[in-house]
Formats: sequence, C-alpha cells, structure tokens
Amino acid sequence: MEKAKETKIAVLTISDGVTLGIREDLSGKLALGMIEAGLHPDILTALAVPDDLKQIADTLRAWAGDGYRLIITSGGTGISPRDNTPQATLSVIDYQVPGIAELMRSESLKKTAMAALSRAVAGVRGRTLIINLPGSPRGVQECLDAVMPILPHAIEQLESGAGHTK
Ligand code: MTE
Repeated sequence: MEKAKETKIAVLTISDGVTLGIREDLSGKLALGMIEAGLHPDILTALAVPDDLKQIADTLRAWAGDGYRLIITSGGTGISPRDNTPQATLSVIDYQVPGIAELMRSESLKKTAMAALSRAVAGVRGRTLIINLPGSPRGVQECLDAVMPILPHAIEQLESGAGHTK
C-alpha cells in the first residue's frame, strides 16, 4: 500500500558534554541507526542540545510544530540537578503515555537495577510522540529494543488522527 504521508522522525541528544565537543555522541548515532533500520522514516533529523530545560523544550516544540511524528530524546533523565529532560518533556506534552515508560522500565530492570534511576517519560504533543531514553548507548539499545515493536502502530494512530474503529 502506498504511504499517505511522509513520516518525519527526530533524535535529540541532550548532553552538555556532546555540545561542548568533549564527548562523542555514540548514543545519538545508535538511536539513528536503530530508527532507520526499524522504522524507515522519510526524514530523519538529529541534533544535540545542552542539558538546559528551555533549549530542550524549545526544540521539542519546534519539531512538533514542524510535523515530526516521533521524537526520541537521549540523556538527561537521571537524578542529578542538571538532568532536565523529563521536566522539559512534561512542560510541552498534552498528555503522557505512561505505558511506554513502564514498558521501557520493566524491560530495562530485567537487565540492570540502575534503570530505576531513569525518570524517562513519554507523551504526545499534538500529533507528535515524544519518548525519553537514557543517555548511555546501552540504555538506548535496551529501551529502543523494548518499544520498537509498538512504534509503527503509534505513528499510524498519530498520522490518521483517528482512534480505533470499534
Ligand atoms: N536503562 C537501561 N535499559 N540500561 C542502562 O544501562 N542506565 C541507567 C538508567 N537507565 C541504564 C538504563 C543509569 S546508570 C542512569 S543514571 C539513568 O538511566 C539515567 O541516565 P541519563 O541521565 O543518562 O538519562
């Protein structure tokens, strides 16, 4: 079947170290590769911003306004004072999708108790699904593995704008 619309997906790396050029963005690269292989978007965009609440929220708003259907963030979900990603995400979404965060957390906890330290959230702004992932490559791999199977249907629902037919 022909695709009705082009699907735009973006990956936002949130890391002071990456934006300062003192850390390589391995997690962003990994997320891009997994999304390309798993979801075949028409447009796939990547950007890195510091752990700054306003810059994170502004980027999420701009991308949602630009018609991105899915935004994956990586980093800044921990419990340090500079970890701002969940707060920024909550400030821009219309509603949470708690099951996505629950799914990532429950799968991650099978691998490492450290998963309890991620405050990652997921939610929808308009027709854009935003999902927080941890900053480590391992966290990205494990969390994306957990949610990848549900993403095509999530994207379809947001694209059609319609609920399930009963
Ligand atoms: N989740 C998975 N699946 N695998 C991991 O290795 N690392 C944890 C956690 N979630 C991890 C994970 C660790 S050590 C931290 S501190 C938190 O994510 C927050 O990471 P962040 O601040 O880089 O987002």
